[in-house]
Amino acid sequence: MSFPKNFFWGGATAANQCEGAWNVGGRGMTETDVTTGGTATTPRYRTYVMPDGTEGKLSQFASKPKGAKFAVLDGYKYPNHEAIDFYHHYKEDIALFAEMGFKMFRMSIAWSRIYPKGIEEEPNQEGLAFYRSVFEELKKYNIEPLVTIWHFDTPLYIEEEMGDWANRDVIALFDKYAKTILTEYKGLVHYWLTFNEINNTVNFFDAMEDSKTDAGWQNVYQHLHNKFVASAHTVKMAHEIDPENKVGCMICGTLSYALTCDPQDVFAKDEKWQSGVLYCSDVQCRGYYPYYAQKMWDAHNVKLDITEQDLKDLKEGCVDFYTFSYYSSNCITTHKDTETASGNMINGAKNPYLEYSDWGWSYDPLGLRIYLNYLYDRYEKPMMIVENGLGALDVLNEDGTVHDDYRIDYLRKHVKAMKDAIEIDHVDLIGYTTWGCIDLVSAGTGEMRKRYGFIYVDIDDDLKGSGKRYRKDSFYWYKKCIASDGEDLD
Ligand code: BG6
Repeated sequence: MSFPKNFFWGGATAANQCEGAWNVGGRGMTETDVTTGGTATTPRYRTYVMPDGTEGKLSQFASKPKGAKFAVLDGYKYPNHEAIDFYHHYKEDIALFAEMGFKMFRMSIAWSRIYPKGIEEEPNQEGLAFYRSVFEELKKYNIEPLVTIWHFDTPLYIEEEMGDWANRDVIALFDKYAKTILTEYKGLVHYWLTFNEINNTVNFFDAMEDSKTDAGWQNVYQHLHNKFVASAHTVKMAHEIDPENKVGCMICGTLSYALTCDPQDVFAKDEKWQSGVLYCSDVQCRGYYPYYAQKMWDAHNVKLDITEQDLKDLKEGCVDFYTFSYYSSNCITTHKDTETASGNMINGAKNPYLEYSDWGWSYDPLGLRIYLNYLYDRYEKPMMIVENGLGALDVLNEDGTVHDDYRIDYLRKHVKAMKDAIEIDHVDLIGYTTWGCIDLVSAGTGEMRKRYGFIYVDIDDDLKGSGKRYRKDSFYWYKKCIASDGEDLD
């Protein structure tokens, strides 16, 4: 058995990184709207105003000064405002996806297009109409949408005025939003993901420069608990609204190795694996907290507000399938003076056996196969890889070509690893949507030059360019890969 005939080959994007049109069609503000562009070595900043009118900026990993309100300020560049303007180009872009033979397109709905502040009684009709047209366009080409309901874009009002997800009231607001879109797009969408990389709530906090107090940890675990409950409600509603609906979790899938065979390193790696990766999917796939959760809470004196009804809801709202992003692996060690490496939120020590990208992320295709096996063994649920790819510097030649053989090489090796996982290991893998199938704004650095796409978009880091789309060499490679059901990888 190799890739099944109905395997979901495709690509993935997120609203805030590709749509642009940040203040068009009644859309409300989100944190990315006040986030500047950065680079591999300089952070992205969030800009704000103090009550006395003083303006300031802080890195993504710093806490906001008391009283500050996020604001768009003159003199800064905000790459997500325009992004690649998918909002106005979706027809052209979907036609290109269809030309590659996509069976699935992963995209997200921006909560703030549907409920601009999150608190309105009635949804924004212009926002609903926009996504309906996108889904109808996909249907024309028999491309199945895979819709992420939340991809890093809580309405700014909820975040600033309501205390964000640590406030239980946000669950009801999310329920309303989820119910609206599940009802509105019944029949047009069958595959849903609740929260993108939900485990990064913890990993992000862990990477913060300051305020890692017990109160901070209390806040972060309550925040996550409220998301788990909202996710469970969404799964239940999705099944009630349309029994054809399938809902998945979405985990930032970073595989960690112990750097040495020192048992201290192995234990540290296991603890990181539990707190950084498994904690969330254990709740979302099994419907209850894992045994090691208590240890994690005790370490920071966390006492969660969990009701009897929450426990019942978690049980009744288990996801149907497991999805994850996979880019690279890392190493965990208790030894000092080791060389460090970066990665997708979970950083670690450098692995001497692997090569690294320009942004310091390792290449580890076998790690993908290992990850698939670990997680399939744990939950025995169908799996999808909903993000994978190589962020690289591409050169657009004068004749409109882009020779990205490095990307083809990366993808080929990962597809081969998937093939082995299906064919030899018998993992139930049902889909693969590569990240940023069309170039878009990097979430981590805010750059355009960190490109993942099969389709080059002519926009640079100064947000200049024609916006024109060009087929890269990898476009033709992926087309061939899909047409041959993953057999022709040359
Ligand atoms: C994942 C996110 O973390 O990784 C995406 O779900 C993100 O939103 C992707 O873009 C790649 O990260 P980056 O920083 O290279 O954009």
